[in-house]
Amino acid sequence: MIPNQILDGIEHLDPLPVTARRLSDMLGREDVNIRDIADVVQYDAAVAANVVRVANSAAYAGRYPVERVRDAVVRLGTATLLTIVLGRHIQNFRGAAPMYSLSEDDLYMHSAAASLMIKAMAAECRGPLPATCSVAALLHDIGKLIMVRYMKADVSSLLSLCNEKKINFVDAERELLGCDHAEVGGAVARKWGFPTEITSAIENHHNVSRGGNGIVLDAVMLANYAAKSMGIGLGAAAFNIPIDYAGSRERLGLSIEGFERACAQTAMWMADQRKEMNPVA
Ligand SMILES: [Fe+2]
Repeated sequence: MIPNQILDGIEHLDPLPVTARRLSDMLGREDVNIRDIADVVQYDAAVAANVVRVANSAAYAGRYPVERVRDAVVRLGTATLLTIVLGRHIQNFRGAAPMYSLSEDDLYMHSAAASLMIKAMAAECRGPLPATCSVAALLHDIGKLIMVRYMKADVSSLLSLCNEKKINFVDAERELLGCDHAEVGGAVARKWGFPTEITSAIENHHNVSRGGNGIVLDAVMLANYAAKSMGIGLGAAAFNIPIDYAGSRERLGLSIEGFERACAQTAMWMADQRKEMNPVA
């Protein structure tokens, strides 16, 4: 059960920006056309500038560069546009998460890598991945940012508990703090009004027994595992988390080689992203 101080904190979170809410409502709707989506993006100047830049970045660039917002919208699609808007929004409460041994940068890069991994896996899976996967992957650990705001715990107490009781990091969170970051993340997503498959994937991304309950959940579990395998945002939990790597992979129709190719592709996109963020490094 989520303690009251966290529930109060979630209740008082800033609402989603209007652009994010409108894009979220458009996700999965078949009656939405490009002009509707372009209109939403166009009226948000900061977002409009960003979508053109992302549409020309290594992960999304096509044969020709795009210059107009409308062309960028066509290239990126609603879900990616939403991840751009959400990426900016969650930076408002960016911070380090010492309880998980994660720096501000680790958390951000881990979310970005998980979200890009969805795009890379989509090219390798047997069937299509729903558009909501990239949003769920981006936000899967959002609960950690809330946990560190309201819970006082030391990473060493969590790690000692793991060692003493031979339990995984997520169980240790629940035992020491009464809840874990996944269920808190689910409550945040619910508060923000995301579609059920996103909320549920965030809430259950460490719940192996729920694997098989949807493509989005399996894709998020694998994307999280992949980001960790690339050494991005390993944190104190590292691989001491519940994961059904083979089960999730099989349900998505993703071979071991396909998973590895997707990891390699994501690592290349992440390297480009780092270069863009820090061109002199
Ligand atoms: Fe997690």
